[in-house]
Amino acid sequence: MAKPTVVVTRAIPREALELLARHFVVDANEADRSYTPNELISHAAGADALVALLTDRIDDAFLARCPNLKVVANVAVGYDNIDVAAASRRNVLVTNTPGVLTEATADFAFALLLAVVRRIVEADRYVREGRFREWLMMGLHGVDLADRTLGIAGFGRIGQAVARRGRAFGMKVIYTGNRRAPPTIEDALAAHFVDKATLLADSDVLSLHVPLTPATRHYLGADELAQMRPTAYVINTARGPVIDEEALVRALRSGGIRGAGLDVFEREPEVHPELIGMTNVVLAPHIGSATVETRTKMAMMAAENAIAAVSGATPPNLVRA
Ligand code: DGY
Repeated sequence: MAKPTVVVTRAIPREALELLARHFVVDANEADRSYTPNELISHAAGADALVALLTDRIDDAFLARCPNLKVVANVAVGYDNIDVAAASRRNVLVTNTPGVLTEATADFAFALLLAVVRRIVEADRYVREGRFREWLMMGLHGVDLADRTLGIAGFGRIGQAVARRGRAFGMKVIYTGNRRAPPTIEDALAAHFVDKATLLADSDVLSLHVPLTPATRHYLGADELAQMRPTAYVINTARGPVIDEEALVRALRSGGIRGAGLDVFEREPEVHPELIGMTNVVLAPHIGSATVETRTKMAMMAAENAIAAVSGATPPNLVRA
């Protein structure tokens, strides 16, 4: 029997391509750049499965042009690039990659936190520019983390993993989310559930871990930023549109908050031009999960999901509309 066809929309680790090749005829984009919408359609129109990246927009119009498609296996835990309701109406399964990127993303959130709070990028520039001529007593001061409050918005796997790191640095942890975590988790992390207003008012560092949905778009806007401490920092490794970037820029410019560490942007890959010039902001190009091990696990998981879906089984990481 002829093998089904899978389209892989941009470069992914070789192991995952090899796994796919055992089950599919593979049409893989070998470049690490996304297909244009026309290229995507021309490759995917006859495919049975799509291994997609978060840079691919999978909407109803796209799905309408791929009548054989059985599954879109996203190589990401987030799936806001896919219209899951439209896929479900068209009997196309959607899968994601939860769990495998938790530690890498939490590491990166904490790396941004440390970088901005201890001014590591500024310090690096200071040395490279040849300005380190004598030890400084009064320059490049950051703030202590011990006994400060780490606020976490969205207490899923990644939020909890960031809380663990915060505890290891002696921080107090407060969190909010759609529901309260079980007592065993709260106890293990000494984490206190609070409402959003308290989270905003009491956090010295606020780390965002909510998925992007219509309800979380601009979760942090002008009103919310106004409730934060002028000494507070915001860290975002979730999705850019969770923050109103214009409002964030205004808050940073006016001293409404002290700094930010951003891995994601509202109009990615565009970055608000004023952020580029700010020394109290550390910027990264959406690399929270970018370690060799994690990206390989994510691609393998997506491949396994695609294989299961096309064989008629329920894929392990099915996303429901
Ligand atoms: C995800 O998986 O959703 C990340 O943003 C990509 O690493």
